[in-house]
Amino acid sequence: MNSLFPGLIKRPRRLRVDKLRQLVKETGLDVSDLIYPLFVVNGENIKKEIPSMPGNYHWSLDLVLKEVQRVVKLGIGAIILFGVPKNKDEEGSRAWAKDGIVQKACSLIKEEFPQLLVITDVCLCQYTEHGHCGVLDEGKIKNDSTLKLLSKVAFSHAQAGADMVAPSDMMDGRVRAIRKTLDQKGFKEVSIMAYSAKYASNFYGPFRDAAHSAPQKGDRRSYQMDPANSREAIKEAQLDIEEGADILMVKPALSYLDIIYRLKEEFNYPVAAYNVSGEYSLVKAAAKQGWVDEKGVVLEMLLSMKRAGADLILTYFAKEVAKWLKEG
Ligand code: PBG
Repeated sequence: MNSLFPGLIKRPRRLRVDKLRQLVKETGLDVSDLIYPLFVVNGENIKKEIPSMPGNYHWSLDLVLKEVQRVVKLGIGAIILFGVPKNKDEEGSRAWAKDGIVQKACSLIKEEFPQLLVITDVCLCQYTEHGHCGVLDEGKIKNDSTLKLLSKVAFSHAQAGADMVAPSDMMDGRVRAIRKTLDQKGFKEVSIMAYSAKYASNFYGPFRDAAHSAPQKGDRRSYQMDPANSREAIKEAQLDIEEGADILMVKPALSYLDIIYRLKEEFNYPVAAYNVSGEYSLVKAAAKQGWVDEKGVVLEMLLSMKRAGADLILTYFAKEVAKWLKEG
């Protein structure tokens, strides 16, 4: 930039006075950006706090409606459901059961709150004995046989009334397989939010406690992305778009703001940021000690995701954030 008035002090501070600051604000955080994750379990009268995620709970179906009511009242327009099934098996068959926990929760919630956007996480890891996100054969995750199962899961969620499905498994070709099945079965209007750039991250620890989904053996590095890579995220997103994804997600969010930025620059698609469990728990733990100001830190974190280019944010802080934004 060539200076028009060389020698003059430039004064960016002029725009930082109280009266002006709001007017020149480049980004903002709004309750309409938020998606709240909910864990549903079998049984009755269960509201069990997840130890590593204080403030988040396992909900049985008789109590979850009240929680959803609170979420809706706060102005949050979307939830994402995670199921914690009672029984697991080798294939993860409870993931696509008509009377599975997510399917039941979904139809119940949609019946009561038709205006709420209900998203379902499509994966097998909570449902398989081995805890991997796909079919396990002699220690290897089989890509193409997993696609059939994921399609069945997505179809069963659509039948239960899901507005959007979000495949989080990271198998190749899963968006195409799911889109094809949904279209064939008459669910053209059900959208897909692809976990496009899902990294093999250490920030999922608390979630795996919450969802009982840690792999029994090995890790997820043969299907989730290497944290060292960013160009690969563009390739993954490109493939998901070609296969029919409606929204691209980056997960985790905070250590991957560059990825959010790159996907937003590269593609004309909505980008979602998943503010994951580990990011949540770190803040909760420090705030409990009085080491950080929770409200300030959380709002700043989420704002940074928006600034990087995220259009929507999945966050366990959604309810608190909605309250804080209301207070102003
Ligand atoms: C399942 C799934 C995971 C998360 C969302 N869906 C865990 C994983 O891949 O191990 C993580 C969410 C979080 O940490 O908040 N595949």
